[in-house]
Amino acid sequence: MRRLLNDVEKVLISEQDIQARIVELGREITAAYTDQDRLLLICVLKGAFMFLADLVRQIEVRHAVDFIEISSYGSGTVSSGVVRILLDLEQDITGRHVLIVEDIVDTGRTLDYITRNLQTRGPASLRVCTLLNKPSRREIDVPLDFVGFEVPDEFVAGYGLDFAEAYRNLPFIGVLKPELYKPQGQDEPDSCR
Ligand code: PRP
Repeated sequence: MRRLLNDVEKVLISEQDIQARIVELGREITAAYTDQDRLLLICVLKGAFMFLADLVRQIEVRHAVDFIEISSYGSGTVSSGVVRILLDLEQDITGRHVLIVEDIVDTGRTLDYITRNLQTRGPASLRVCTLLNKPSRREIDVPLDFVGFEVPDEFVAGYGLDFAEAYRNLPFIGVLKPELYKPQGQDEPDSCR
């Protein structure tokens, strides 16, 4: 872990703050779904896997989990705007109360695609819980029902979020050292997320 930590410029949200907020989110979600027994949490892979694992332990209503994997970017790090399903749900969501669990909403393209796709499958309700929201980068307006933290327009990694598929195992949300993701002479990364 020490080698990974050397790549971190700063900790944006500590492990303790993440866990404390997840306890609160768990209470909010439990209250919102208390009288509903057909709750299904859909984890958007891969980034949300760690958030889902901690969040479900704070939800006190009976529920099932399922997974969907979306490719929101083409090759490289520049957003292509192309979204497609890499792994689809196992379960039928017809008549279910569905809660999408995301790690971050950035441009909103991924979530917009997922919600429009899932709406066609006839859920009883469809809501969204995201750990992080980066409103400064929004291109498509997407409603968010449960939000952990708003983050500034910085390249965040850790707690499930990657850079080049690494750093997901950091227990906090951090900002990586710019030299890792910025080509020399470039002020901004190719893409924030
Ligand atoms: C990230 C994140 C969201 C999406 C948000 O996924 O997990 O799903 O990008 O970006 P958007 O609002 O601009 O669409 P990514 O494509 O990095 O895949 P990963 O979760 O597998 O790391």
